[in-house]
Amino acid sequence: MKLLHVAAEVFPLVKTGGLADVTGALPPALARAGADVRLLLPGLPPILDALEESRVVLSLGPLFGAGRITLRLGHLPGSAVPAYVIDAPYLYRRGGGPYQDDRGNEWPDNLQRFALLGWAGAHLAAGELDEGWMPDVLHAHDWHAGLACAYARVHPGTAALTVFTVHNLAYQGLFPMTEFDRLGLPVRTRDSSGLEFHGQLSFMKGGLKFAERITTVSPTYAGEIATPEFGFGLDGVIRSRQAVVSGILNGVDPQVWDPARDSALAARYAADRLDGKAACKQALQSEVALAAQPEVPLLCVVSRLTAQKGIDLVLAALPALVQRGVQLLVVGTGDPGLESAVRDAARRHPGRVAARLVYDEALAHRAIAGADAILVPSRFEPCGLTQMYGLRYGTLPLVRRVGGLADTVVDGSDAAVREGRATGFVFDAASPLALERAVERLVALYRQPRAWQAVMRTAMAQDFSWDHAARDYLALYAQALANRVG
Ligand code: ADP
Ligand code: GLC
Repeated sequence: MKLLHVAAEVFPLVKTGGLADVTGALPPALARAGADVRLLLPGLPPILDALEESRVVLSLGPLFGAGRITLRLGHLPGSAVPAYVIDAPYLYRRGGGPYQDDRGNEWPDNLQRFALLGWAGAHLAAGELDEGWMPDVLHAHDWHAGLACAYARVHPGTAALTVFTVHNLAYQGLFPMTEFDRLGLPVRTRDSSGLEFHGQLSFMKGGLKFAERITTVSPTYAGEIATPEFGFGLDGVIRSRQAVVSGILNGVDPQVWDPARDSALAARYAADRLDGKAACKQALQSEVALAAQPEVPLLCVVSRLTAQKGIDLVLAALPALVQRGVQLLVVGTGDPGLESAVRDAARRHPGRVAARLVYDEALAHRAIAGADAILVPSRFEPCGLTQMYGLRYGTLPLVRRVGGLADTVVDGSDAAVREGRATGFVFDAASPLALERAVERLVALYRQPRAWQAVMRTAMAQDFSWDHAARDYLALYAQALANRVG
């Protein structure tokens, strides 16, 4: 089966969050499972400059304001998956991030930048950009690629099955409706049965309305987004397409996340040789200036600092947590308000609370390896990857019961600990008190080293494999294609 995955980010070249981890790991897993899979990416400098053994597939005329556009085909370093990259210097060759400039302002031409990505996806899928390869499935990720499904729907030549994956419904790609004409889509796609969302134009809705199949990154989130609480105004649209919505849990890439082989760590370890983990903790305490106390539970947060992630709950509970005797390290960037609140907390509790307000991949590894537990108290979480990294690193996740967090962590209730099922701690209410209570339970278990270690081993034995996810995607494609014929 030939598959084209369209996305704006890919690990390790361009990454703002878990989306990049997914687009870096899922296509290779699909290839291992026998699929002929290719990526389509925008020519952002880190991607274009890293593309190896590339050749020009096609030169395109002026489109979306860009004069010179070339489609290149090569592969990314260390990856065998072929990648099409759209070289459109006017739209993509610039500093800053994929969606924002260095000061955090959205790029003013994001509509054109991501319309081009979707347009190219649909026309590649129609076999019009590369005569030598035509996919059976056009799989678009998040709003950045959402218009691929709209262009494919209106383009008579596109026979490929369209699949749209929602990684995060909170980011929708909204633009003024006055920009609609720039898209080159027929007027019939303009109203609320198409792209219109409360008077604006929504790329996310383009994916949700026009894809033949919709997936999300965990089964629980697939149900949640059909409710007003988690639907960000799109729950009605999702309910109307309920029959084609499903959730497939993300995986962990063992090439990147494996404590036995992780070169970022002070020492390596595995479930049957945990000494290295103690060395990682010691090294981490020293690196971030937390008191050198091996017996104190060290909690970490590795996260974008946004309202989604419930960092405010941690901050509100912090005095009580410090009183319970835990240490906390926060590694994250994001909201200036949250960043400064985290910085203040570290200042108020020297040696007990540390803040590293940076985006640093190696530090994220050292934090997750060195900590005893990882806090993910999200208000909503489509899948969440850091709790799975925590499980793999024997760093027990303490999470809120939402989305993928609910699907991946088994709460350490007395019964679950006794029965050897527990892998972490789960709480319900989005309140500082509920978080605090969960941390109390964590500390109590930590005081029983044998029980704690048994839970660690269960956690480390969990298998969140991309191969499993890849099989589920392939089954979904096959079933959707078969239903179509029938
Ligand atoms: P989201 O995509 O919502 O941000 P995920 O848990 O799916 O959440 O993925 C987050 C990814 O970003 C993980 O790979 C995590 O390690 C990484 N990450 C988040 N913040 C940082 C940071 N400050 N430094 C390095 N990596 C980070
Ligand atoms: C989004 C979600 C996160 C998920 C990631 C990858 O960024 O916020 O929960 O793990 O996408 O699918």
